[in-house]
Amino acid sequence: MSTERGEFSSRIGFVMAAAGSAIGLGNIWGFPGQAAQNGGAAFVVVYIILSFIVAYPVFMAELTIGRYSQSNIVGAFNIIEGGKKFKFVGYMGVLAASLIYGFYAVIAGWMLSYVFNAIFTIMGFNEIAQWCIDSSSLLRNISFMGVFGLLTMYIITGGVKNGIEKWSARLMPALIIILIAMIIYVSLQEGAMKGLAFYLSPDFSKIGDGKLILSALGQAFFSLSLGVGTMLVYGSYIRKNENLPVIGALVTLADVGIAFMAGFLIIPAMFVAQASGVEIYAADGSLIAGANIVFQVLPELFDSLGAVGPFFALIFFALMTIAALTSSISMLEVPVAYAVDDLKLNRKKATFIFGFTIMAISVVLIMYMDVLFGLVVSIATQWLQPIIGLLLCIFIGWVMNRNQVLGELKQGYPEVENSFFYKIWPWFVRVICPVLILLIFYTTLFG
Ligand code: PFF
Repeated sequence: MSTERGEFSSRIGFVMAAAGSAIGLGNIWGFPGQAAQNGGAAFVVVYIILSFIVAYPVFMAELTIGRYSQSNIVGAFNIIEGGKKFKFVGYMGVLAASLIYGFYAVIAGWMLSYVFNAIFTIMGFNEIAQWCIDSSSLLRNISFMGVFGLLTMYIITGGVKNGIEKWSARLMPALIIILIAMIIYVSLQEGAMKGLAFYLSPDFSKIGDGKLILSALGQAFFSLSLGVGTMLVYGSYIRKNENLPVIGALVTLADVGIAFMAGFLIIPAMFVAQASGVEIYAADGSLIAGANIVFQVLPELFDSLGAVGPFFALIFFALMTIAALTSSISMLEVPVAYAVDDLKLNRKKATFIFGFTIMAISVVLIMYMDVLFGLVVSIATQWLQPIIGLLLCIFIGWVMNRNQVLGELKQGYPEVENSFFYKIWPWFVRVICPVLILLIFYTTLFG
């Protein structure tokens, strides 16, 4: 059965694919943007703490459920004893993955459009270069989203080893090299130090702010791709002889590490832009955040560089597109794996059906951007992801048979029973994570 479904060929293959899923626009753009908006280092501290005490235990729950059941987020509840009542969680996961893929492809399409803008600028085709970044053009928004969607579908039709693993292993090293090179370049420019100071000095008055904590929680779930079944299905493709707690920790460290690193690029880059005359504060005095950082401040910075500007823009937006692609494939894999495992569709057919259906969702989001986009982002990432994460914790902590959980972890880690991990993790999934998630919701709603 497992060979039909596909399997990662090695530990490094899985780590690349899972890190590829985790490391995406959420790290390179979302995290620095949120940090800029929420008091710099105060947000960073809360985010890092929540990543390790809430997100990592949930991540381990997903990997364990996935590998034990050898199935997707819906199928797992059919297979595991006591799971039937939790099947709705599986459908919620498929819905959340599809919604996230729906809005992610739109943003990724914009990244791609800036890649083409840079290419056409370098070639001297200024008019078409300008069209590529004309945010008011529906045709432009839909075409680039469509191209990005087709790229994602192409990789997914290749399957686990020859699609997901192969492309993640090619693209992730490229991403890290580009990121490091850009950090070095930016930190040598005038203004960079001011940015570093902002990034690294916490405004602790913001730390108890309920909104800050909910944002940090949402960001931690989004960044590790949790609560949608991506990591669950990737877990089902890991070999039985791999040590789950260790590779889960590796992926978490890589994800948090890259987000932290990206802060050293984006925030100093904003202050470098300011040094060359770009406005980086909004009308109300707060630092510009969200889409404007990447699509306004940075392009102005690249413009101010003169002839080399388009080359830097090309490299930066290629980095963003690559990061987005290794994440989007993991989102599409959620419904596709469900269709392959449970609906018995062949992989190509499943990819086309879900790929194009979600593309239609993206088109709707583009057409009703003002009313729908922010709403879908917040429903999917701040609410659905943590709620599904919470339900998965309850399932593995209270419903699933303890010996089955322990037995699964023992494969690849025979001494797990005596490890520090196993002394505390069951308590995290049973009590600490659910209580923390509920508390954060409570303070956001009523605090
Ligand atoms: N982790 C990705 C990022 O940080 O950009 C986003 C993501 C990927 C969310 C896969 C959900 C998912 F299933």
